[in-house]
Amino acid sequence: MTSPVEIAPANGKLGVLLVGLGAVSTTTIAGVMAIRRGLAPPIGSLTQMGTIRLGKRTENRTPKIKDFVPLASLDDIVFGGWDIFEEDCYAAARTAGVLEPSQLEQVRGELEAIKPMPAVFDQRYVKRLDGPNVKKGKNKRDLAEQLIADIRSFKAKHGCDRLVMIWCGSTEIYMKETAAHATIASFEKALEENDDAIPSSMIYAYAALREGLPFANAAPNLTADIPAMLQLAAKMKSPVAGNDMKTGQTLIKTIIAPGLKARLLGVKGWYSTNILGNRDGEVLDDPESFKTKEESKKSALDYIFQPHLYPELYADLCHVVRINYYPPRGDNKEGWDNIDLIGWLGYPMQLKINFLCRDSILAAPIVLDSVLFLDLAKRAGMSGIQEWLSFYFKSPMHAPEVYPEHDLFIQLMKLKNTLRYLRGEELITHLGREYYD
Ligand SMILES: NC(=O)c1ccc[n+]([C@@H]2O[C@H](COP(=O)([O-])OP(=O)(O)OC[C@H]3O[C@@H](n4cnc5c(N)ncnc54)[C@H](O)[C@@H]3O)[C@@H](O)[C@H]2O)c1
Repeated sequence: MTSPVEIAPANGKLGVLLVGLGAVSTTTIAGVMAIRRGLAPPIGSLTQMGTIRLGKRTENRTPKIKDFVPLASLDDIVFGGWDIFEEDCYAAARTAGVLEPSQLEQVRGELEAIKPMPAVFDQRYVKRLDGPNVKKGKNKRDLAEQLIADIRSFKAKHGCDRLVMIWCGSTEIYMKETAAHATIASFEKALEENDDAIPSSMIYAYAALREGLPFANAAPNLTADIPAMLQLAAKMKSPVAGNDMKTGQTLIKTIIAPGLKARLLGVKGWYSTNILGNRDGEVLDDPESFKTKEESKKSALDYIFQPHLYPELYADLCHVVRINYYPPRGDNKEGWDNIDLIGWLGYPMQLKINFLCRDSILAAPIVLDSVLFLDLAKRAGMSGIQEWLSFYFKSPMHAPEVYPEHDLFIQLMKLKNTLRYLRGEELITHLGREYYD
């Protein structure tokens, strides 16, 4: 046992600022409202339903996570956010078409009260989107200052004790790190000079970190994952997490692939295709936004299979990922995976997976969990990359000297061990020799 880490209590209100009030955000917000009124269960949320084993198996100590670590209560959450469309949260949820109108009606008043603040938006970074609710500014520095003013006035207006910001906006075009991203000074100079290397999402992340807020990126954009942001996070003691929430097909991939690898079954091909008809699908129909998503979706298998260690099993893996925009399905995505396996003596086999999922229904609980855990991290004095939150992301942020951990089960163990560490409980190694001595 080690001594517990000092964690400030979760007193007062927690403001949750969501960038982009689209399908994921409105499903999260309306869901939290319905859950706290006892109208629906928080299925899929580890913070609300998960338990954690403590000590030896014989001790029978398995509290709920929310009773083990001091998380903010759902009753203390206040939502706000930005969008390029002027619709309030109720209208936006109706547009997104994820939750049933009758369910939205039950929380209509609360949803209508959330009106999006004017966004920082530049169509060059999201080609398939345009809207009227957009800030004007002298340069990107000025836009960042306007966001900081929004953050401060939201905090004052709602009497928030703490805030968290999550980018739930559209997927921006594929971008690579440049010299502008190297240091806080080069980044601020680039803001001043309106450098193209700074997309809208980075302006939000910068504003959040400047204010010392925890920040997460639910999309695959290059947003907070640059040296300048990490330096700022360290300076302002902000925890950060990302990128791209692990829902749908990649969630299933990181459940199945570790199992195949554990049994040393070879994989020659993995073909993944999706049809998706929501606004996210429309944005991803643009090849430049799709490239950002594709890079994020493709990385998981390489890391899980470790082809450099198992060349006979995985070196020739052909991994293809497709997303097709198909409006009739709306948010109800359908994914197909065909996996070409190799077994004993090289005999081929096939596995087919057909997942009829609901994208935002899978995303909402993990937005909620990320918010609550990032707020916990901040109160526990943890800043910079929160690798223990890899569990929630397709392209987990990680230190430059280590590879990212994609295996869902290792990610969960890391998350729970972090909670045990915070509370001074013994870490669980699953060795268990003591039961047989
Ligand atoms: N749904 C999922 O399961 C899932 C999983 C992983 C990642 N994501 C990512 O999460 C993001 C949100 O997904 P969604 O389904 O809610 O999409 P959506 O299109 O319904 O919502 C995105 C919203 O962001 C707004 N927006 C775009 N740029 C903005 C800006 N600069 N400032 C403010 N608002 C802006 C759009 O107007 C839109 O309302 C996407 O990038 C998506 O790829 C979603």
